[in-house]
Amino acid sequence: MGSLNTTKNKPHVVCIPYPAQGHINPMLKLAKLLHFKGGFHVTFVNTEYNHKRLLKSRGPNSLNGLSSFRFETIPDGLPETDVDVTQDIPSLCDSTRKTCLPHFKKLLAKLNNAIETPPVTCIVSDGCMSFTLDAAQELNIPEVLFWTTSACGFMAYTQYSQLVERGLTPLKDSSYMTNGYLETTIDWIPGIKEIRLKDIPSFIRTTQPNDLMVHFLLGECERAQKASAIILNTFDDLEHNVLEAFSSLNFPPVYSIGPLHLLLKEVTDKELNSFGSNLWKEEPECLEWLNSKEPNSVVYVNFGSITVMTNEQMIEFAWGLANSKIPFLWVIRPDLVAGENSVLPQEFLEETKNRGMLSSWCPQEEVLDHSAIGGFLTHSGWNSTLESVCGGVPMICWPFFAEQQTNCRFCCHEWGIGLEIEDAKRDKIESLVKEMVEGEKGKEMKEKALEWKKLAQNAASGPNGSSFMNLEKMFRDVLL
Ligand code: UDX
Repeated sequence: MGSLNTTKNKPHVVCIPYPAQGHINPMLKLAKLLHFKGGFHVTFVNTEYNHKRLLKSRGPNSLNGLSSFRFETIPDGLPETDVDVTQDIPSLCDSTRKTCLPHFKKLLAKLNNAIETPPVTCIVSDGCMSFTLDAAQELNIPEVLFWTTSACGFMAYTQYSQLVERGLTPLKDSSYMTNGYLETTIDWIPGIKEIRLKDIPSFIRTTQPNDLMVHFLLGECERAQKASAIILNTFDDLEHNVLEAFSSLNFPPVYSIGPLHLLLKEVTDKELNSFGSNLWKEEPECLEWLNSKEPNSVVYVNFGSITVMTNEQMIEFAWGLANSKIPFLWVIRPDLVAGENSVLPQEFLEETKNRGMLSSWCPQEEVLDHSAIGGFLTHSGWNSTLESVCGGVPMICWPFFAEQQTNCRFCCHEWGIGLEIEDAKRDKIESLVKEMVEGEKGKEMKEKALEWKKLAQNAASGPNGSSFMNLEKMFRDVLL
């Protein structure tokens, strides 16, 4: 009876990520911290589609949860499919925005009526799932929006309305994609000294006045103003100017509480650590392979969970890597190549068999923490970027979409830890890979990356680390 009372009195947070890998990962980490450090009863809400995939990749009992950390599901509104692929992002944005609210409200009502669960006291929702604010308002409980982007990426999204007002987007016609227009410099974004139009999150590269993604993001940024607080998976030292600039905008308080995976490192709760969020099955063999390699000798190549490329582009990357003669670990997701199966030339496989390791999904945080990794060829997704910063690993950036362009800009021009690939042709890839792992510029970037690593560790360490303190402050001021 005593334990039931204790459970019933706990604050109860409902965490709901946007249903894509790069959003589920940080939200699950935050949920674990809420449970372990904040003492919250947690309900973690997946879409039915992702929940099925998680059970498939991690085993049927992997998401049983604990008595005070439970998983629930709602439909995403898209047609059902059994194929394990990255769902189309614009369709998913449109469908979650239009269809999920009634399901979410129904779930909240179920949780509030359950005898064994404490009443829901707050919601932590992905910034791109702002429909949830209506449910919080109805229950009169606080809601925090978690934007899983960098601060610079989020800041750039908040400027979409200005970009439209100033006539910078939509583009007049498709020739503006290649006629130098995207090189236009912008110097009026709060907290960002100078940035090119091409570094702004990619959805503005449209000729459509009512482009779905621009419209979606305009709406999400406007609704963010209604949240009790906004949180970002970054740290003060890394993005100080941008973070400070949020106070000049009409936003609720912004808390930087990252890198979440470092904050989570001190959580030794075995049961909590047993459930993870990978939608693809991990292949840990690559860690053993890395153990056999010299320190800082391997280039790690991974383009995250959403990037797609053509087979021709993949072949350029293959020969660029092969010709560099540098050992590589290359993760090729089963749906990386658009509309077809990836086929690497036999000659490439033969030539690199003693120095290349191919995998389809790896435990990335551990890979980036491995001493053998000398550099990361990345699509500049925010989680990947932050994990690389925490591993002290310099990057070659080949941004694909969304705010990856902004992350790339900051890596290369602000933080001194990135080299950008403008044109992914084999010769360029070869020279950049050599430069990163063996060259002078690579050495400088490595030193800088190690400095950021140290600062990231400081931010996440208690009791005086900035993110550690911000997390506790956010618990106290907003959620508890
Ligand atoms: C993207 C980006 O976060 C962001 O730029 C944009 O807003 C949309 O979503 P994604 O492309 O998946 O997500 O990249 P990233 O943010 O880097 O997230 C990928 C996550 O999957 C990382 O946490 C990474 O550690 C993990 N991962 C990736 C693995 O664990 N193993 C792999 O093999 C590949």
